[in-house]
Amino acid sequence: MELTLERPPEGAAADWTIDQNWERFTPQEHAVWDTLFERQARLLPGRASKAWLRGLDVLRLSRPGIPNFEELSERLMAATGWRVVAVPGLVPDDIFFDHLANRRFVAGNFIRRADQLDYLQEPDVFHDVFGHVPMLADPVFADYMQAYGQGGLRSLGFGALHKLARLYWYTVEFGLVEEEGALRIYGSGIVSSRGESLFALDDPSPNRIAFDLRRVMRTRYRIDDYQQTYFVIPSFEELLRCTLETDFAPLYAELEGMEDLDPETVLAEDRVLTQGSQAYARSRPRG
Ligand code: PHE
Ligand code: FE
Repeated sequence: MELTLERPPEGAAADWTIDQNWERFTPQEHAVWDTLFERQARLLPGRASKAWLRGLDVLRLSRPGIPNFEELSERLMAATGWRVVAVPGLVPDDIFFDHLANRRFVAGNFIRRADQLDYLQEPDVFHDVFGHVPMLADPVFADYMQAYGQGGLRSLGFGALHKLARLYWYTVEFGLVEEEGALRIYGSGIVSSRGESLFALDDPSPNRIAFDLRRVMRTRYRIDDYQQTYFVIPSFEELLRCTLETDFAPLYAELEGMEDLDPETVLAEDRVLTQGSQAYARSRPRG
C-alpha cells in the first residue's frame, strides 16, 4: 500500500477529519441547501431508486438547512452503522479508502454559492450528503461501500487504483438500477444534479448498458460534463455479490493487457438497453 506523503492541513486530524463547525454556516448557506433539497426532493420520486428514496428520510433532521453531522450520524448509525465525518476537501486515496473500510463517509465542509446551483465541479456538502448519504442508509449498499473501501486499500498494492476508481464512478457516482422493468437513478452525481437527473433517464444522447464488472473497469470517464454512458445494475444485491466474490488481483493483471475504452464506446458483446445518439456530447466541445 502507498503511504500518504501529503500531510493533513493545519487543524485537521491525522485522518484528515475536521470539526464540521456547523454553527459557522450562514443563513444564506443554509438557504442554498434548502433550495437544492426542495428542488431535488420534488424531482426524484419516480426517478430515484426505492433505496435512495427510502434513505432520504434519514436526512429529514430536526432543523432545515445543512445537516449537522452529529445528528445525521446518529441516525445513520442506527440504520446501518455508518457515520459522516467532515474533511476540508479531497483527501489522499489511502485515507479515503480507510474511512470507507471503517464505515465512515467523508463529506466536504463547504456549500456552493447561490449562483452555482446547477453546476459545480468539486463535490460540496450538498453532493456529498444529499447524493451519497441516502444510499448509505440501505443495508446492502452500506456493505458495498465498506467492501469498496477494503478493495481500494488492496488496489493500491497492485497500482490498480485507476481501474477500481472506474467502478466507483460508474456505480456509486453515476449508477442506474433496473427496478420493476424501469430504469432508476442511484448514483450520487446524478441525484444531486437537476440537469443530470433528467438527462440520465430521458435524453436520447447517452448509452445505457447492462453492468459488467470487467467492462466497467476498462471504461474511461469524463468528469466535466454529463456522462456518455450509464451502466445499469440489476439490483444492489447483485452488485455486492459480484464484487465480493470476484478476486480483483487477477482481474487487474488481465485488464493491464487490454485496451481502455472511450466513454461512448459500444461493444458487440454489450447488452445495450439504449444505444445513445451522442448528440448532446457532440454539441459540447471538450474543455
Ligand atoms: N473483491 C474485491 C477485491 O478482491 C474487493 C471489492 C469489493 C472491490 C467490493 C470493490 C467492491 O479486491
Ligand atoms: Fe461523490
